[in-house]
Amino acid sequence: MAEYDIIDRYDVIPSARNGAIKLHGPEGFAGMRAAGRLAAEIMDALVPHVVPGVATQELDDFVFRMMDDAGAYPATLGYRGYMKSSCISVNHVVCHGIPGDRPLKEGDIVNIDVTPVLNGWHGDTSRMYLVGDVPVKARRLVEVTYECLMLGLDQAKPGNRLGDIAHAIQSHAEKHRYGVVRDFCGHGLGQLFHDAPEVVHAGKPGTGPELRPGMFFTVEPMINIGKPACKVLEDGWTAVTRDRSLSAQFEHSIGITESGCEIFTKSPKGFDKPPYQAASAKRHTHDIAAVAGDAAGLARAERDRIGPAFAEAPAPQEAEPLVPDRPASRRLAPAEHGAHLAALVEEQCRGLAPCRHQPCAAPYQFGAGRAAAAEQCDAAAQQHRRGQSGRDHRLAHDPLLFVLAAG
Ligand code: MF3
Ligand code: CO
Ligand code: CO
Repeated sequence: MAEYDIIDRYDVIPSARNGAIKLHGPEGFAGMRAAGRLAAEIMDALVPHVVPGVATQELDDFVFRMMDDAGAYPATLGYRGYMKSSCISVNHVVCHGIPGDRPLKEGDIVNIDVTPVLNGWHGDTSRMYLVGDVPVKARRLVEVTYECLMLGLDQAKPGNRLGDIAHAIQSHAEKHRYGVVRDFCGHGLGQLFHDAPEVVHAGKPGTGPELRPGMFFTVEPMINIGKPACKVLEDGWTAVTRDRSLSAQFEHSIGITESGCEIFTKSPKGFDKPPYQAASAKRHTHDIAAVAGDAAGLARAERDRIGPAFAEAPAPQEAEPLVPDRPASRRLAPAEHGAHLAALVEEQCRGLAPCRHQPCAAPYQFGAGRAAAAEQCDAAAQQHRRGQSGRDHRLAHDPLLFVLAAG
């Protein structure tokens, strides 16, 4: 039987990860609405920049600047040693791809995952982007993955259980003979990045914790053309499919309401699934219907896709420079990231804002890494309780941060 904790407006400092599922009130919804909206706006703003030739590091710099300009910071930056503002996962990368110098190329499918922390609340979302012309098999995977997320969210209402969400996702993916990734899952969130419950994407209806109004969590299915199995590369982060098949993912942060759920990270521009621009939408729609060899289907697809989703979408834009007030070629130097990070650590750990070592990836990872991660986080939480300042214990636990903050 799951435990639940009611969180009220006096809980300024987030209560620790204690395994209970937090039930939030109106203040929480307002906080998540703002953070989720910023996250979705970042996703929207990335659209014209995800093109052949762009380095994923440039996209990461853009994400950092947008958050910084909005008075938010990237939850991922400095998180358990992860040093980027986003995760960018290309083709057979399942999740946690690290932005770098490799340029995107025509035909790539790309997941960009961001989590701005705005006024202490975490808006966690990811979408797929198509780089130029993408083969129909890959587009189909992206489409079905989006459908999996939305079918899962249809089940997100009071009285249902987490297993109902998992089952909706799994049955749709498997109907298309795709594999549902088991090694990573969605998670509770709010004033913590990763919290109870674990939100799995494959399972049986009627099982798992019951959904109650006030629960906040992500749903973020990772779906592979091939088998579900993943492995993590040497860098300790990048998860790829074992069989090297393509993988796709979409993620929303939601809150359970009295009647269903509120999606905090919906696209203000209607860019919820690619293709995101009317011109390319047209081309892709024709291709897919042509493959199906179905004229009526073509007309229907034309109306369904371009009609509602793109009626209000702006015409394709000229790409603006990635970092507006700097030359596009100039990336944010690591030292600037470092200085900014040091400032964040200061700010967070003065005791006014939550110490970011409390959020823990432990529930997020299954398998061998999990026990170790949980142990590490428990040790940190214990130190926290002993009254040691957040700052000290954070620095003590993260040599890289120590160097950055000291230097
Ligand atoms: N945003 C990811 C999620 O959906 C987590 C990334 S953790 C990081 O939960 F450290 F890899 F950035
Ligand atoms: Co997430
Ligand atoms: Co995410």
